[in-house]
Amino acid sequence: MKNPASSLNIKNKFLILGCGFSGSFFAKKIRQLGYTALTTSRSLTKDPDSFIFDSENGIPPSKKIFDGVTHILSCIPPDKNGKDPVLKILKDNLKSLSLEWVGYLSTTGVYGDTKGDWVSEINEPNPFQKRSHMRLNCEKEWLESGLPVQIFRLPGIYGPGRSTIEAIKNKKIRVISKKNQVFSRIHVADITNAIIYLLQNRKTLKFYQIINIADDEPCSQIEVIKYCHDLLGLRMPKPISFEDAKEELSPIAKSFWIENRRVSNKLLCETLGYKLIYKNYRIGLRNCYLNS
Ligand SMILES: NC(=O)c1ccc[n+]([C@@H]2O[C@H](COP(=O)([O-])OP(=O)(O)OC[C@H]3O[C@@H](n4cnc5c(N)ncnc54)[C@H](OP(=O)(O)O)[C@@H]3O)[C@@H](O)[C@H]2O)c1
Repeated sequence: MKNPASSLNIKNKFLILGCGFSGSFFAKKIRQLGYTALTTSRSLTKDPDSFIFDSENGIPPSKKIFDGVTHILSCIPPDKNGKDPVLKILKDNLKSLSLEWVGYLSTTGVYGDTKGDWVSEINEPNPFQKRSHMRLNCEKEWLESGLPVQIFRLPGIYGPGRSTIEAIKNKKIRVISKKNQVFSRIHVADITNAIIYLLQNRKTLKFYQIINIADDEPCSQIEVIKYCHDLLGLRMPKPISFEDAKEELSPIAKSFWIENRRVSNKLLCETLGYKLIYKNYRIGLRNCYLNS
């Protein structure tokens, strides 16, 4: 990914707010490329460049994390009142910096239910779940912040250590069938690589403020579960119908089944020319299996 004509400069300094699954992957990659990256979590981690930031408990990060920062990626979800935790506590700090770019990880849940149709960035968001209304509100707060923001809408994120493979191994899987139901997904490495690709080619590519990062092949959950059982050499349990299973599902689990959409990546992959590493769940899960 080294790119001599890159729009990134080795003096750039990244701050990753909310260094969970996606944030850690991003931090690791950006450091491998030679950039400095500081991170935050709600508690102490082994990373010497990690700082504590916990908006719920009113713990702001140390002011020194902002020194020389040029790029920020926020991976922190909305707070319980639907406000963005970063903007609530740090907006003035961020506005006082000379930031070149701020990335915000959002969700494709803001599109709501399309009854299985494709949905892209030109479609008006139509959130249905309360959490998706809150997310859209956070997107709006970022867009109105006056910061140089770019929003990435993500479907289900998976990768090594967090995928259907672990769910099967930990016996946390229900094999549910629902006719015509599909889910979109993205491998965590493609979130990182797509963002870095856009940053490296910023001078030549048209800037879009909202971009979906999804793979090429939305599909049923059953297909994915079957594929993982095959990888693990296990026999797949008999599926139960959603109608039969729904009473026993938690409200959050049930909520995922009442929306059905195919998330388009045409803007990212056709218009902007990003090449996915993991175009579909088969290639992506094989990577997870080999790294599990
Ligand atoms: N998981 C998915 O399938 C999915 C799909 C679409 C979009 N998203 C969204 O994309 C983003 C990244 O997803 P992810 O799965 O990588 O997230 P994740 O692993 O859950 O990481 C979230 C990060 O935010 C931090 N955080 C949470 N609440 C905070 C608060 N009140 N104050 C300060 N920090 C806080 C967490 O701190 P700790 O490190 O202390 O836990 C963690 O570092 C999230 O906004 C997520 O909602 C996720």
